Amino acid sequence: MPNPQRVLLFGARGKLGTAVAQVLTERGHTVIAASRSSVEHRVDITSGQDITRLYEGLEEVDAIATATGHVPYKFLSDMSGSDYEIGFQDKVLAQIEIVRRGLQHVSARGSFTLITGIFSRSPVPMGTAAAMANGAIEGFVRAAAIEIAPQRINAISPTVFTESVAAAGGLCPGFPPVPLAAVAEAYVRSIEGAQTGQIYELGQ
Ligand SMILES: NC(=O)c1ccc[n+]([C@@H]2O[C@H](COP(=O)([O-])OP(=O)(O)OC[C@H]3O[C@@H](n4cnc5c(N)ncnc54)[C@H](OP(=O)(O)O)[C@@H]3O)[C@@H](O)[C@H]2O)c1
Repeated sequence: MPNPQRVLLFGARGKLGTAVAQVLTERGHTVIAASRSSVEHRVDITSGQDITRLYEGLEEVDAIATATGHVPYKFLSDMSGSDYEIGFQDKVLAQIEIVRRGLQHVSARGSFTLITGIFSRSPVPMGTAAAMANGAIEGFVRAAAIEIAPQRINAISPTVFTESVAAAGGLCPGFPPVPLAAVAEAYVRSIEGAQTGQIYELGQ
């Protein structure tokens, strides 16, 4: 088994977060679950002050991972500027602030693992905010990796989760879904491995 790590996981009670928390726990890691509804580690990641308050209340961790981020899905002609701002705040800036404010709270050779998604590389109608957010995070990850070494940073970019196909309606016709368990394994690869600056594309 791998060396046990302390992993701070944002969104650990969501669909993806639950799968990631389960596999990390099974592999002997300690998962610290943070979200808005958490009693012990309550945080709203759209507030930088909230993120800092959470970090300052924790001992150093070995890894920080995210399983959060909402973007509006609408046709471009129906999108407003504030729709893009909401998507940028919730998925992009929140994850960047988790990294920027987290650098001194992660061990010297620790890691960050962020979440993006397929729509930046394979767009769909109503997906402009998702494409914007995912592309922004992927650019950030590649650039941040060359500055933060020996700390590491990667992003996970799945197609639709198998378990979310019904909820997604007809948003991604013909996209091969990927099971949450496989997405969770990509987090393991990022957290336990040695790679940095990688975007793990799951499904095509
Ligand atoms: N669904 C798919 O098929 C799919 C495919 C590719 C990528 N993704 C991406 O995967 C990520 C997770 O998706 P999901 O379906 O697992 O979402 P989900 O089930 O809605 O879970 C989201 C989690 O994030 C937490 N959260 C939401 N807003 C927060 C905030 N402001 N501050 C702190 N915590 C917050 C929620 O907990 P609280 O409510 O307690 O805060 C919840 O635990 C998203 O970025 C999504 O775009 C999804």
